Amino acid sequence: MTGDGSDAPGHGRFISFEGIDGSGKSTQARLLHEHLTARGEDALLTREPGGSPGAEEIRALVLQGEPDRWSAETEILLFTAARRDHMERRVLPALDAGRTVICDRFADSTRAYQGSSRGDLRAMVDQLHTLMIGREPDLTILIDIDPEVGLGRAKARRTAEERFEDFGLDLQRAMRQVFLDLAAAEPERFRVIDGARPEAEVAAEVARVVEAGR
Ligand code: ADP
Ligand code: TYD
Repeated sequence: MTGDGSDAPGHGRFISFEGIDGSGKSTQARLLHEHLTARGEDALLTREPGGSPGAEEIRALVLQGEPDRWSAETEILLFTAARRDHMERRVLPALDAGRTVICDRFADSTRAYQGSSRGDLRAMVDQLHTLMIGREPDLTILIDIDPEVGLGRAKARRTAEERFEDFGLDLQRAMRQVFLDLAAAEPERFRVIDGARPEAEVAAEVARVVEAGR
């Protein structure tokens, strides 16, 4: 990470899951964690926004309440603040200890949602990432799915956190394309997996991809 003199990379493997709402990220992150743990690997399962006590407080600020509570720019700051806290307190210590970190969403979600859902703020997102986070996952698994399927799944699971799910199908379509574009721009880091299959089938492919990258 930058700005605090502790930017020596850790030795653990950092894996993120990305995709639109309802694509199955949380399910697959959990199944991968179970798979690795069953093989005796020391893996940390975490999520964003959140993952540390402070970042979970920020999560409540950004995902609950009025959707237009924050300007797009303020939202970038809040998501980045949550990520910085999560990195400092959980992700980097785990990587430094040699653990595998599995993170349900990371900076690609900010690039997609804050970077392009309310105007083109991608440059601002990238600048702040460089300044405050300065680290990418070693492997990013993009669970790709038709937004109608994803939205149907997400709606069936209704919670108090409606923030982006509520923006509807058009936004989900646009976000799917941004994720696919991010994956195409960084083929070394990303693996795209078809999420429109039974959970176990997707999980088996995720496990293969993770093993192949060792
Ligand atoms: P995300 O974290 O991407 O929003 P979740 O893993 O929470 O997605 O899954 C959203 C909903 O869809 C959950 O109710 C989950 O049980 C269900 N689900 C997840 N994966 C599949 C799948 N492969 N097929 C059918 N339903 C799924
Ligand atoms: P999440 O709990 O992963 O939602 P879901 O399980 O429905 O995919 O994330 C909550 C919301 O936060 C989701 O709509 C995407 C949004 N989000 C951002 O807008 N920017 C970010 O940087 C992150 C990490 C999430």
